Amino acid sequence: MSRLTRSPAWQALAAHQKRLSAVTLAQLFAADVSRAERFSLESGDLLLDYSKHRVDAEAMRLLAELAAQAQVPNWIARMFSGDLINNTEGRAVLHVALRSKSPAFLEGHDVIPAVRAARERMRRFVDEALHGALKGADGRAITDIVNIGIGGSDLGPRMLSRALRKFRKPGPRLHFVANIDPADLEATLDGLTPGTTFFIVASKTFTTAETLDNAARARAWLEARLGKSAGLSRHFAAVTANVPGAAELGVPPERIFPLWDWVGGRYSVWSAVGLPVALTAGMDAFEELLEGARAMDAHFRSTPLERNMPALLALLEIWCVNFLGAQSRAVIPYSEDLRDFPAYLQQLEMESNGKCVDRDGNEVDYATAPVIWGAAGTPSQHSFHQLLHQGTQRIPVDFIVIGQDGTSTAAQAALGANALAQSAALAFGNAAPDAPHKVLPGDRPSSTLLLKHLNPRALGSLVALYEHKVFVEGAIWNLNSFDQWGVEHGKNLARTLLPRLIGSGEVAGLDSSTRTLIARLRERD
Ligand code: F6P
Repeated sequence: MSRLTRSPAWQALAAHQKRLSAVTLAQLFAADVSRAERFSLESGDLLLDYSKHRVDAEAMRLLAELAAQAQVPNWIARMFSGDLINNTEGRAVLHVALRSKSPAFLEGHDVIPAVRAARERMRRFVDEALHGALKGADGRAITDIVNIGIGGSDLGPRMLSRALRKFRKPGPRLHFVANIDPADLEATLDGLTPGTTFFIVASKTFTTAETLDNAARARAWLEARLGKSAGLSRHFAAVTANVPGAAELGVPPERIFPLWDWVGGRYSVWSAVGLPVALTAGMDAFEELLEGARAMDAHFRSTPLERNMPALLALLEIWCVNFLGAQSRAVIPYSEDLRDFPAYLQQLEMESNGKCVDRDGNEVDYATAPVIWGAAGTPSQHSFHQLLHQGTQRIPVDFIVIGQDGTSTAAQAALGANALAQSAALAFGNAAPDAPHKVLPGDRPSSTLLLKHLNPRALGSLVALYEHKVFVEGAIWNLNSFDQWGVEHGKNLARTLLPRLIGSGEVAGLDSSTRTLIARLRERD
């Protein structure tokens, strides 16, 4: 048995869960008129209502004890002080420095001046782009900017640019390309004018095959239409920790924005990886996004675990996964603008905590990250909610609801009514004595996160909230949430298979399934 599952808090939680399993959510609400108030929490622009989870005060007390036992406050302090807590890569985890106003030290060196300088460069670039001063090889103003990147170099900026589209400044149109499938880039470039199209190549490592392939294709597209010339480099910027890599692509030094090895890819949207966000809503909006994240950082660092929003979200996840047996969690934003949020969280949560070996190298004997999935409500209601209500699995849900976002009150009310109807139906079910097929069993847990407005500040807090939630889970599950060796292995394997698919490379030594499939894929007709 692991230290975690042997621990007193874990054992007490398991025993308490048995007692609570006989109690329904309806009974918990009936027994406490102020339950919604007692099981909710506000921080800045966010309100978290977790009263529809199958917890009582004792469960919450024991969960906080579990976090204390795992020394979560100490882990938080270690992250903020630049300790090398990414132990398998020997790196610090300092994305919080990207939004900090006070010094942040890494091995005795304050990283903030470099962060600020990079942000100043971002501001100049964004101003140029938004004011028509960003020009292509033939001197025409840029009308379209294509962000080429994948994973953390795509999902964060893509999600936030969409989330902030109501704040869009007049300026170049933005596009995103991630897939190594040429169809992605081709479809994006279809209809664009080469002379006025610009590419941001975002890659921390500048070794990622998808991104390098797409960048090379983009260059070839420009060359084929504008001719080979030194001026083509005016169509490129890069965001990377690998400056020589970007230089090799021909990106001019003044257009290479820095990234640092102490920022994980999936935590990098606060850096120049967030350029598309700033290009959408302006640099001031980007600063507000950072401000929102900073407010959440302050809350996370200084609030006791029992009232700490990221810690509470993490503890509720642990309750659902480890004590109620949930294997997945649905994330349903009631906002078209937030439609990409589930996809963003998939990487953040599953790449961080989808691990079966702990930070000391031992196999875990408890479940870790659940599968994260979801889609925007209300379309989701007409797709997978049937299973949420009456399926054989009890899947916890995060509902994300926006207070006022500038659309008509009636439209906003319709979204709110739908979200609340769903969470109430999940929690309290539907009794239908004469029609078993109409019975909704209820007792299906959910959290509701209310954002007063969908604005840059609230979004910054929302994203930082989930980042820190993932961090707390990692601390309790004793994982290194900042490496991704599973992904690295897949990348390497693809690299070795590629020549075998292109040519007639040696297939001996491969398993028979891979060998046979390669043979079929090599067939041209
Ligand atoms: O998916 C693995 C990963 O390494 C992610 O962590 C990262 O966000 C993504 O690839 C892209 O990496 P890069 O920014 O180095 O191209």
